[in-house]
Amino acid sequence: MERPEPLIVASNRGPVGFRHGPDGALEEVRGSGGLVTALRPLVDRMDVTWVASAMSDAEREIAAGGRRTQRSPGGSEFWLHLVAHDPAVYARFYGVVANPVLWFVQHDLWGLKLDPEADLRVPWRQGYVEANRALAAAVVEELDRVPDAPVFVQDYHLDLVPTFVRAARPAARIAHFTHIPWVGPDDWAVLPHEIAVAIHEGLLACDSIGFHTERWRAAFVESCEALLARGGEAERRSHANPISVDVEEFEAIAAGDRVRSRREALLAERPEILVLRVDRTDPSKNAVRGFAAFERLLERRPDLHGRIGLLALLDPSRETIPEYVDYRRAVEDVVARVNERFGRAGWEPIALVVRDDFPASVAAYTEYDVLLVNPVLDGLNLVAKEAPLVNRRDGVLVLSRGAGAFAELEDWVIGIDPLDVGGQAEALERALDLPQADRRAWLDAIRAHVRAHDLDAWATRELVELERRAPCREAGATMRS
Ligand code: G6P
Repeated sequence: MERPEPLIVASNRGPVGFRHGPDGALEEVRGSGGLVTALRPLVDRMDVTWVASAMSDAEREIAAGGRRTQRSPGGSEFWLHLVAHDPAVYARFYGVVANPVLWFVQHDLWGLKLDPEADLRVPWRQGYVEANRALAAAVVEELDRVPDAPVFVQDYHLDLVPTFVRAARPAARIAHFTHIPWVGPDDWAVLPHEIAVAIHEGLLACDSIGFHTERWRAAFVESCEALLARGGEAERRSHANPISVDVEEFEAIAAGDRVRSRREALLAERPEILVLRVDRTDPSKNAVRGFAAFERLLERRPDLHGRIGLLALLDPSRETIPEYVDYRRAVEDVVARVNERFGRAGWEPIALVVRDDFPASVAAYTEYDVLLVNPVLDGLNLVAKEAPLVNRRDGVLVLSRGAGAFAELEDWVIGIDPLDVGGQAEALERALDLPQADRRAWLDAIRAHVRAHDLDAWATRELVELERRAPCREAGATMRS
């Protein structure tokens, strides 16, 4: 068999996580979040070296031991190169700048960043820039080992990595992919100019720049023009390529024992009509408004009382960041209010489970009648693709127009506006009343789309876009010299 092509991937969170078990031994955990879920299967197709930040004590221990080989869930080997940052640098990088500032700006939520005294330039220079410099140094070290490998830099944590890699290795082939939305120049204008400029320059240091949708890509071109007068370059180097699911891997997970046992438990206790949401506890996911919409549905439809239930499976996220702690509390409060108001013996309208339990989420995917995905903005939202793939009840997807996946799936979903609570209640009602034939046809259409545009197609396109553009860059360099 031919040896697979080398590839260097760089992201903040690695494809697998590590923690110390009760006996102090190292335990592996599945890396969570859309990016890692989507990229992990790449290690089974290519000869991957993955550079990532050490995020726990266990991971810092591993980083101290240097690069190591790691086995993927699919059985392939890859190199894992974890970078241990100075803890103060990492806290500024991850806990102040990347989340919540960049995350909030790029999800149109910056009004939630309520710390008026923060001087962003300090955590930027002494956090974000330094962490990116360290990750770029690790990429350069790997390029010395596999000089021809393309470098795939992932997401908003690593916007400056291309700048540093390009400076050290001018001929490197570098691609960046943003897994979250991109916003226009007015939104970037809330940040210190130095930060907005460096971020845009970082992406323009790449040969190929990817986004999930044309909408995010167009915003990038516009902000490059407004900030740097480089809209033309941004236009030529960028493309829209929505990420997707590894269908085979996903179906194998759905058929596995861990999902089966959770499905049996769910079947034993499910209400007649099951509405589901599966998210991280992130303000951008808009869970509070989703619960408020469900409350309105219960107000309008007493006939549903006792028969319908909303199951919310929320993966705890970024719990050291105050805005996330507050949002989780707001979620718990609204759920308590609705349950108090409508619940009765033997019927709890909303079941809220805040736990990282991927098999339980997949089990619930098989069982929903309505899936509510109502983010304010979302780069793509993989739940909207994963869940229909394995659903067994002709479930209907109620999907926010702010989710990147909406552009692909809009013909087969009920669209909602994320701030419109009343409209979301009406959409839930419409979903419940949708004729069976439409439910089946929509679900089949989503499945066919996801199968035809799977993760393999995404990864192949990323490589093709990079190959197509990298030589132009070299030609440009020759012409300039
Ligand atoms: C989103 C981001 C990812 C991130 C994930 C989880 O999917 O696009 O880059 O890894 O959220 O966030 P976390 O802060 O837990 O890594």
